[in-house]
Formats: sequence, structure tokens, C-alpha cells
Amino acid sequence: MLEGQVSCFAWRKIFKVTIENQGSDMEQTEVVKPESLDDLIKILHTIFESDSINVEEVQNIMESYESNPQDWMKYAKFDQYRYTRNLVDEGNGKFNLMILCWGEGHGSSIHDHSDSHCFLKMLQGQLKETLFDWPEKKTHGDMVQKSQRVLQENKVAYINDSIGLHRMENVSHTECAASLHLYSPPFQSCQTFDQRTGHKNTVKMTFWSKYGQRTPFESTISQENN
Ligand SMILES: [Fe+2]
Repeated sequence: MLEGQVSCFAWRKIFKVTIENQGSDMEQTEVVKPESLDDLIKILHTIFESDSINVEEVQNIMESYESNPQDWMKYAKFDQYRYTRNLVDEGNGKFNLMILCWGEGHGSSIHDHSDSHCFLKMLQGQLKETLFDWPEKKTHGDMVQKSQRVLQENKVAYINDSIGLHRMENVSHTECAASLHLYSPPFQSCQTFDQRTGHKNTVKMTFWSKYGQRTPFESTISQENN
């Protein structure tokens, strides 16, 4: 506990120095890495004590954690048929942290993020992200695809509703994937979109497991999200 707190405060101090030194020729300051997922969670708790969120700060600290499967294996519960959402931490009510487990060929629908920040870090494997514009109210045709990219292990992506909508897919036929998601503020439902018509549906989101324990009675509800 104490060790985590020490590295947390050390990181914040050093990060501040790095920002102040940007643009100058002063020696580069190394950002302290979270040593484990638990360490990362402690740092995130401290960051989110503040009411205003610095997106780059959260992105940097999540990226600086080097994924170690031993840290997160207990949360990573896969299903044969579709991706699963596994709650890791409730962030003192400020954020939800979860691990999504993607089997071969599993993907999400096109969805929004309910006015929240969404950070996604690859823990294992790769995910393809396809970004879409919000559909125009008057048109009913195909949704407009803005861009596509493949997220590699340890990389962190960020999205919110002003950036657009997206679909995430594990396109591999041989490798599964796992991703760490932080949503702030937490939300329990989002909207999904039909790519061909732009029509939307509100869906409730459920967890396949919480804190490493399977939650079987919630699993039958649609999980078209994230
Ligand atoms: Fe998402």
C-alpha cells in the first residue's frame, strides 16, 4: 500500500517537471512506470480525485504500464461466443475500470460512450478500431466511416462522443485479445448503431464477472457495448 502511494506521488511530481521542460533543451525526465496493475489503479485513484481530467495525463500513465498477464489473468474470463466485460475497479465512483476479453473474430457493434471519457489500453493481442461519424438525422443510408487503425499491445486509445462513434474488433482467427477500459464518469447504458441505416438502440451494459468472480445471472442481457 505504502509502496504504491510513494510511486504514485513520485510519478505526479516527475510528470509535472516533464511538462514544464517541454520545448527546452533540458535533459529529458523519465516518467515513472506503474510496476503492476494494482500500482496503476492506485495512481488512477489519485488522478481522478480531481474534478477536471487531463486526458493526456491519463493516457500517458496507462501507456506507461507494461502489461503483465500475471497482474490481470484473474479478471480475464473469455466466452466462446462473444467478448466479455469484466469489472476490475469502481474508482471511488469516479470511473469504472474493466477488462474486455475478445475471442478470435469477436467484435462490438458501433456504439457511443454516453458522454464519458473512454480510455482503452491493449493488454494482449490487437484490436481494430473503426471510427464513424454520428449519423445525420435526415439520412438513412450507410454510416460514414472516418478512419481505421490497429491498436498494438500496450497502446492506449481515447474516444468520447465529440470524436465520434466506433466499432472494436479482434480480426485475428488465431489469437485472442484483452483490453483494459477506463470510463469516466461510469455509465450503465449506451447507444448502438446499425451501420446500414444509422438507426440506434439503447442497450444496458452488464458484467460477465466482477472482481474476478463470474456473475452468471446478468449474462443473458444484451451486451452490445463498448
Ligand atoms: Fe468504445
